[in-house]
Amino acid sequence: MIARILVAYATQKGSTADIAEAIGAELRVLGQTVDVREMRTVKSLDGYEAVILGAPIYVGRIIEMGKFVQRHNTGLLERMVAAFAVGTVPVSKDEKQIEAELEVLRVMFKSIQPVALTLFAGKIDPAKLSFMQKTMVNMVKSPVGDFRDWVAITAWTRDVANKMGL
Ligand SMILES: Cc1cc2nc3c(=O)[nH]c(=O)nc-3n(C[C@H](O)[C@H](O)[C@H](O)COP(=O)(O)O)c2cc1C
Repeated sequence: MIARILVAYATQKGSTADIAEAIGAELRVLGQTVDVREMRTVKSLDGYEAVILGAPIYVGRIIEMGKFVQRHNTGLLERMVAAFAVGTVPVSKDEKQIEAELEVLRVMFKSIQPVALTLFAGKIDPAKLSFMQKTMVNMVKSPVGDFRDWVAITAWTRDVANKMGL
């Protein structure tokens, strides 16, 4: 069967991939057919009715997603779209920083009119970081650990499915 929904993600260390898989699993529980794929392997949106995009934030930049939105702009305009970014800023509860990251996401999707945009708390595993990355994480005093909130991720997925009329 051809999947109706595409969940496309970017990731460096795997934590966003896990979130994308959890969203895919929840949509399947809701009876949907879903493909969960790395963004860079997606050549065409043909056949999909809805697209959910997710990518992590590194040094204030959401990786890969802007390029994907540009490359598939026409296809995204014709489909239901939702997106999420992943980072450790949401852990800080610093409203100004959270708002700044949300604004980056909003600007990226300005032309698309997505049904939902959100930020999820991610994960930093020091064992997976390069020396430079460790230094940066220490410098900005970023929280270190796994902060992914699976209940919030499931709730967002259900809300998105509802808004898309799935
Ligand atoms: C070097 C470095 C820079 C980061 N910069 C940001 C940032 O600017 N904003 C943020 O919210 N999170 C930041 N993070 C946290 C990552 O977004 C978080 O670890 C995310 O879960 C990584 O996703 P991935 O495992 O899919 O690569 C940074 C992490 C590292 C290691």
